[in-house]
Amino acid sequence: MTRRALTDATLATMAAPTSTEPYGLIENAALVIEDGRIAWVGPADDLPQNLGDAVSESLNGRLVTPALIDCHTHIVFGGNRAREFEMRLQGASYEEIARAGGGIVSTVQATRMTYETTLLKDALTRVDALIAEGAATLEIKSGYGLDIDTELKMLHVARAIADTRPIRVVTSFLGAHAIPADYAGQPDAYIDEVCLPALDRAADLGLADAVDGFCEGIAFTPDQIARVFDRARARGLPVKLHAEQLSNLNGAALAARYRALSADHLEHLDTAGIQAMAEAGSVAVLLPGAFYTLRETRLPPVDGLREAGVPIAIATDCNPGSSPLASLLLTMNMACTLFRLTPEEALAGVTREAALALGLTDCGRIEPGLRADLAVWDIAHPAELAYRIGFNPLHARLFGGTP
Ligand code: NIG
Ligand code: FE
Repeated sequence: MTRRALTDATLATMAAPTSTEPYGLIENAALVIEDGRIAWVGPADDLPQNLGDAVSESLNGRLVTPALIDCHTHIVFGGNRAREFEMRLQGASYEEIARAGGGIVSTVQATRMTYETTLLKDALTRVDALIAEGAATLEIKSGYGLDIDTELKMLHVARAIADTRPIRVVTSFLGAHAIPADYAGQPDAYIDEVCLPALDRAADLGLADAVDGFCEGIAFTPDQIARVFDRARARGLPVKLHAEQLSNLNGAALAARYRALSADHLEHLDTAGIQAMAEAGSVAVLLPGAFYTLRETRLPPVDGLREAGVPIAIATDCNPGSSPLASLLLTMNMACTLFRLTPEEALAGVTREAALALGLTDCGRIEPGLRADLAVWDIAHPAELAYRIGFNPLHARLFGGTP
């Protein structure tokens, strides 16, 4: 058994809901790790004496949080969309670009043409940026293939990331992301001939941990998404949905009917949608990077979500179009400045609630029995994480107890 004690730490355990001690803070704390799991947490004075051959390390008062979790990314993709960024600066909207054959569909073309090895190499540069900020868990979606082979290729690359770097990857099959050019005007045929067979193949191969969709005027209707979710249910896979981003199609309520892990974006979510999410226990995943990049003006209904007790997570949405963002610290800052989350909600959003959004029960908090996925920061108080812009105070990251 390997055992390690960390002493003289300030712990933001994020263990309790926000009503008790803020951040679940324990000052002058210690932490014991055994075989990659957290074995003991508490005030340093109460540290058990019988720790045998444990290696003990003083953190000199540094702050320890759960390692960060990015619960919504499209981090595997070919090419980039800098040219589209220029077009938007000249006045074109995201929807206009998408309808003119740009947007998601242009990344699809690039992703189909890019070798798996190149997709992996390029994605790793972004993954490394997240790891350098203390991330230990990462959700990755397919959805830039939109043909069977390329959807599977993307999911293979996502799995390869977890084999190449010390990070845990949770995958989502996002075949219902956009209607590819070869099926223009035939979304139902695309669902029948490509999306559902690709979902089945991904499930057969164990490549998908969940199923996602994009319910929007420029993507799929609620009925089409429901057909995809029916198949996910038949295959025993949980669902989640890009919902209410640009308009309100009642996607969140649809997702809630399928007991979705989460509904994501949600700028146009209404009261009925909030209620449906609360009853289903679905997490609201807010994506301030997309809101910022697309210069949206309609805010997600944060007060309504809070009042209804819907857990709020935040994520980078790292993708080449609407959110070319590979920083969870900046995401936290944006969530506070743009969406008026508190710094505590922002930290919960990339730890405890992000774990919930992925259906993971063994990470996202500092508690005995959970994985020792931890971030050690050169700061005194957790609010500093969301407060600064373009500053990374990470001192060390532990992944399953290993620095
Ligand atoms: O989460 N909303 C749909 N999908 C992505 C956008 C992907 C893209 O523009 O390439 C999102 O914002
Ligand atoms: Fe997304």
